[in-house]
Amino acid sequence: MGRTATAPTGVVAPSGVGAGPFGVVERGKTVIVTPSAVEPASTPSPSSGAAAGSNELAPPSLARAALDPAGRRAGWRLIRRTLRAQWAGITFGVLVGLCWTAAKVSAPALVSRAIDQGIVAGDRAALIQWSVAIAVVAVIAALFTGLRRYWAFRESRMVETRLRDEIYAQIQRLHFAFHDREQAGDLMSRANTDLQQIQALVVLIPLTISNFVTVGAVTVILFTIDAKLALLSLASLPLLNYLGKRFSTRLHPYVVGIQQESAELASVVEETVSGVRVVKGFGAQDVQANRLRTEADDLYETSMGAARVRARFLPGMELLPNIGLILVLGYGGHQVLAGNLTLGQLVEFNVYIYLLIWPLRMLGMIIAQSQRAAASAQRVDAVLATEPAVVSPARPTALPAGGTDGHLGLGAVRFEDVTFRYEPGAAQPVLDHLVLDIAPGESVALVGATGSGKSTVARLIPRFYDVETGRVTLDGVDIRDLDLVQLRRSVGLVFEDTFLFSSTIAENIAFADAEATDDRIHAAARLAGAHDFIVELPDGYATEIGERGFSLSGGQRQRIAIARAILADPRVLILDDATSSVDPTKEHEIRDALTEVMRDRTTIVIAHRPATVALADRVVLIDDGRAVAEGTHESLLATSAAYRQVLAAADHGDGDPTGDDGPTDGPRGDGSGGDGSGGNGSGGNGSGANGSGGDGAGVAQGAAR
Ligand SMILES: Nc1ncnc2c1ncn2[C@@H]1O[C@H](COP(=O)(O)OP(=O)(O)OP(=O)(O)O)[C@@H](O)[C@H]1O
Ligand SMILES: [Mg+2]
Repeated sequence: MGRTATAPTGVVAPSGVGAGPFGVVERGKTVIVTPSAVEPASTPSPSSGAAAGSNELAPPSLARAALDPAGRRAGWRLIRRTLRAQWAGITFGVLVGLCWTAAKVSAPALVSRAIDQGIVAGDRAALIQWSVAIAVVAVIAALFTGLRRYWAFRESRMVETRLRDEIYAQIQRLHFAFHDREQAGDLMSRANTDLQQIQALVVLIPLTISNFVTVGAVTVILFTIDAKLALLSLASLPLLNYLGKRFSTRLHPYVVGIQQESAELASVVEETVSGVRVVKGFGAQDVQANRLRTEADDLYETSMGAARVRARFLPGMELLPNIGLILVLGYGGHQVLAGNLTLGQLVEFNVYIYLLIWPLRMLGMIIAQSQRAAASAQRVDAVLATEPAVVSPARPTALPAGGTDGHLGLGAVRFEDVTFRYEPGAAQPVLDHLVLDIAPGESVALVGATGSGKSTVARLIPRFYDVETGRVTLDGVDIRDLDLVQLRRSVGLVFEDTFLFSSTIAENIAFADAEATDDRIHAAARLAGAHDFIVELPDGYATEIGERGFSLSGGQRQRIAIARAILADPRVLILDDATSSVDPTKEHEIRDALTEVMRDRTTIVIAHRPATVALADRVVLIDDGRAVAEGTHESLLATSAAYRQVLAAADHGDGDPTGDDGPTDGPRGDGSGGDGSGGNGSGGNGSGANGSGGDGAGVAQGAAR
């Protein structure tokens, strides 16, 4: 009976449960999940924007939420809500637990009868009879142990799964600004480790209830056998309870600390893994290793703090019940000798005390686990309770349908006096009373210095963010009146930093429409200038591309991303630096493809290379969030000094991948694999801003290309 297994939490696990459920309780075991962002990272590095100084990022809202005292209650509310949703299953689990209790509690009484009526009375038949009864009860207890465990796990895993679905759906629903601020590793930790904490509490519920009933029943039985002896043996109980309470109060800050530290560690691990190419490219393994070590050390310190608290309290909690046992033996033995108690009753008493030890000790563990779970629930709730800032209207307006020829003839985009800031309250708006009017089918190139707001314009059209004042319309409808899904299906956006999924090329291209026929996939690939290199790959369209498609070159990945956008057949196609990784010598191929793509489709191209810019019907020069000049490429070259400067700077920054006059301190082009550096691939641009006073020679060169 007393067989115990030490669980990783440092608390002794019951024989009926084993280490199983507690193995998952341990924090700090960071589960690394493959980065699964559906949206390409669009956050620029703090150093990439000229106006970056104006955007002091507020602390992550989730971290703020963790400090909120009301959060604790919210955590419990979340747990209650989850439990309510599964009350039937949990009730059944509790009933099973009660059957287990009944069997467990009746066993010692039978043992007592076997001793007194069988052994002491010398009645073999009675001994056999009681032994059979004990065997039956033991089998029942064994069966219900299994069932109780199975059911407890079934329900708790269901709780975990349901919450994970909710978090996942919520992460998909949440607006971009949320993801700009929160670290992926932290979110993953909430979706993994924190949910496991809640699961570990739920699994304990049926166990705890049956344990409590056991304690109640055993207490009553003990008192009916011998009240004095019962009092003696239970004397240590309040002390145990007191110790348990102090234990958990002391432990709590460490528990919360461990959860926080684990999340921070997870963030660094996540960044190190997804940014491994940048880290290695800069030979910065040591820097990153130091960050990791610091985080790991913090976690270690906090965990050791918790371990010390445990080490201090557990011996007392272990010893106390045994003192009760000694008292029972001393006083009870005396009573047997005096003839006031039978031997069977003394044995029965002893077995009952053993039966009590575990549930009483478990009390402390339950309290500790419920605190861990509450802290976790609070962190999960902070995600679930975040209201998405960008949602579909209750009664969306339908987009005007195209004529007989589908979308053709549609796709008018207007920015009407749009002002926008990423951080409400920031001094400098990112877009400043921007006016932009793009006719259906027109192709417009946005040109501007780095940080001028070009990508921001692109992000506002599919409503990744909402404007502050003014409005953005698509085919005459304010995009806030459109159904979000319809809007985003109507707008295809290709970023410089393409994210491809780990699947085949065909599946990547058909991402928006899994039903797409091969013909459509091939047509899209042809339009994007990707078909030729795809068919030369070992498995053609069925070629599996690795995580983030690293086996492909940057330019190839960009072309696949363009094909993916084309397949969705959007009314408006936005290419944000989407050809930046395409080798300039190959660019003419994709330029031909782009010309094809742009035909009859509203297209917004953000590019630096004059040759690409020149493809557009019209060029708009963006400066500090305003449209400052527009015209054709040629006319702007002729009339606008600012335009010439921007192109010269850009040309200087990344126009010539082999030249060595570029910046030496920035990630050049895609030299290090091009990814992970996110918005920085154009990091050559860091110097672009300085270089904007570039010389006329550069312009001539650029224009000549
Ligand atoms: N997610 C974001 N959160 C806060 N500020 C941002 C965010 N994205 C961009 N910014 C800031 O907004 C400004 C405009 O950025 P944007 O990305 O639109 O520039 P850009 O013209 O596309 O530059 P580039 O040519 O380098 O891509 C910059 O100052 C940038 O720091
Ligand atoms: Mg940009």
